[in-house]
Amino acid sequence: MKKAKFLFFILALIILFTSCKKESDNYIDPRGTDYAGSESCIQCHKIQSESAFHSSHFKASSPATKENILGHFKNGKNTFVYDANTKLVMEERRDTLYQVLYKNGKEVQAYPFEILFGIKHAQTSAYWKNHYTFELPISYYKSINDWATSPGYSATVPNFERQIDKECFGCHSSNIASRYVTTSSDSITFMTMEVEDFMSKRTLIYGIDCERCHGPAKQHVRTHLKFPDLKKAQNIVAFKDLKRQQRIDACAICHSGNDKLKIKSRFQYKPGDDLLNYFRGVPASNDSINYDVHGNQLGLLAQSKCFKKSEAMDCMTCHNPHEDASKNLATYSSMCISCHQGIEHTPATIKTAGKSLLTNCVECHMPKQDSKAIRFQKSNGGAMSSYSLRTHKIAVYPPNKK
Ligand code: HEC
Ligand code: HEC
Ligand code: HEC
Ligand code: HEC
Ligand code: HEC
Ligand code: HEC
Ligand code: HEC
Repeated sequence: MKKAKFLFFILALIILFTSCKKESDNYIDPRGTDYAGSESCIQCHKIQSESAFHSSHFKASSPATKENILGHFKNGKNTFVYDANTKLVMEERRDTLYQVLYKNGKEVQAYPFEILFGIKHAQTSAYWKNHYTFELPISYYKSINDWATSPGYSATVPNFERQIDKECFGCHSSNIASRYVTTSSDSITFMTMEVEDFMSKRTLIYGIDCERCHGPAKQHVRTHLKFPDLKKAQNIVAFKDLKRQQRIDACAICHSGNDKLKIKSRFQYKPGDDLLNYFRGVPASNDSINYDVHGNQLGLLAQSKCFKKSEAMDCMTCHNPHEDASKNLATYSSMCISCHQGIEHTPATIKTAGKSLLTNCVECHMPKQDSKAIRFQKSNGGAMSSYSLRTHKIAVYPPNKK
């Protein structure tokens, strides 16, 4: 009897293991059968995977686990005070993280952190209610290493009812499906309409993954697995064969602001597509607009002489698309110098710059600027803080007064 039980146990294990393997072979991507999923790329593209998996793109949105969350949950650094009677406390309860609202010391309601947006400078969060997501009123900012109001939120009245629409996911994730309703006015015509703000939780793919930038790659994977000796890439768009505008568009789909009327969902974009089929109006074509440093790198870059007067400059001139922006500004200087040999700075500038003249072009020509779109306020009616990013409008700026 004991032996039979043991054999059954072994058999169960074997079944479990073989079915696990099958499971990964049969990976189903929520985007459809054309997609292979990023895990499948590692076996042949180790270098790109190792860096991209750790990049901000992959973490542009993520599940709200203790590992991914940035803010403090302990030691007096976890409270946001609205007024003498009202406060919000970040609490961990049985492995789930919450923003808990207290009035006069009594808990009123607890809202879970479920989805995180952002990783480099700031992180804001959302919770699910049925098929909709709502932003939490307090976010974390690295510049102050503390919690403060989410952009646009009051520091005196907590608000948990602001819906996060599909737009955020369009730039911060790789997929989230809406519901489509089919209406029939008579028995012949059918119209399919997207219910914009309805979202299906199980179709969410966190972060910006390989196929968000490269397009569906299942066929590419199949072909190369079948013919391992093939050296030339099959069934995948080659960026090196694309025109400059197409290479720029692959980044501009998310890095040229959110102010142009959209025609199609950003999720439908594939490398090589023309952005004009996605927006009304050309992104980044107007010199008189003061683009915000947040969210519109192309708009600003396109106003620079460097961009206008060189034939091939695109985002990849300075950025490896699989890596974060480098913190080492000297690496960028060498890129500047590759186009700018023998610049003649005035003696005054040379004197101010001192030794850093040749290693820190960026600090003078791409200074950090405050965003006009994002500001935030600290606890207890604290000061308004600004959110600053580097401008991509490369130009001569008045000297920094410190
Ligand atoms: C079985 C091996 C294999 C797998 C798996 C694989 N690739 Fe490739 N891929 C190749 C080979 C071979 C090339 C051509 C040589 C090269 O550029 O490395 C290539 C090239 C590429 C290129 C460059 C295309 C060009 O011509 O510029 C991209 C982009 C790419 N793969 C994306 C992906 C993505 C995304 C995945 C995962 C969804 C993936 N690959 C999975 C084998 C593979
Ligand atoms: C943010 C968009 C983006 C993401 C995410 C991304 N790539 Fe790329 N990838 C690019 C671009 C753009 C190029 C072309 C670079 C160039 O031409 O300078 C490229 C080039 C490549 C190449 C050609 C060789 C090379 O390194 O230039 C391979 C292979 C590749 N990517 C694989 C991957 C894999 C695998 C992943 C996921 C682990 C991934 N990429 C994620 C945008 C992206
Ligand atoms: C699907 C939308 C999307 C696409 C496509 C995209 N980006 Fe991004 N990118 C983002 C978002 C969102 C962030 C902010 C990530 C964060 O910090 O949370 C970001 C961040 C970055 C950063 C800063 C990362 C850091 O930590 O320093 C660079 C640089 C960048 N993107 C360059 C590019 C380039 C170059 C391309 C084109 C090859 C590109 N992006 C394509 C959405 C996108
Ligand atoms: C048009 C594309 C786009 C849309 C729409 C968008 N974002 Fe972003 N977001 C970006 C890019 C690009 C960055 C990083 C670079 C920057 O700030 O310019 C970013 C940065 C962020 C950051 C800071 C991340 C960091 O550390 O740099 C947060 C938090 C964020 N977005 C949340 C949101 C939320 C919430 C929404 C919806 C209300 C949203 N975003 C809509 C493109 C977008
Ligand atoms: C692909 C080549 C290229 C790269 C890379 C490049 N530039 Fe330029 N830049 C140019 C060209 C071309 C001009 C226009 C020169 C002219 O008008 O004669 C220019 C103009 C400028 C100007 C004058 C701007 C004005 O408004 O008068 C400055 C300053 C400048 N670049 C700084 C930089 C810095 C700093 C970097 C690195 C972060 C850089 N450039 C990277 C090609 C480049
Ligand atoms: C001439 C070089 C150059 C080009 C071209 C360029 N960048 Fe950058 N980018 C930089 C530098 C320098 C930084 C700042 C790095 C730092 O401060 O750590 C940066 C930072 C960024 C950041 C992070 C901003 C922040 O303050 O954290 C994003 C996002 C970004 N670039 C996107 C893009 C996109 C999208 C394009 C194409 C439209 C592009 N860049 C083209 C040089 C360049
Ligand atoms: C201390 C700040 C500072 C640093 C560092 C700096 N520049 Fe400049 N740059 C200026 C100023 C200011 C001007 C305007 C002319 C002047 O005063 O010298 C200028 C002018 C320029 C011009 C336009 C020249 C013209 O003929 O119109 C270019 C191109 C340029 N810089 C590129 C660079 C590059 C590339 C680097 C890094 C190798 C660099 N600069 C480092 C401040 C700086």
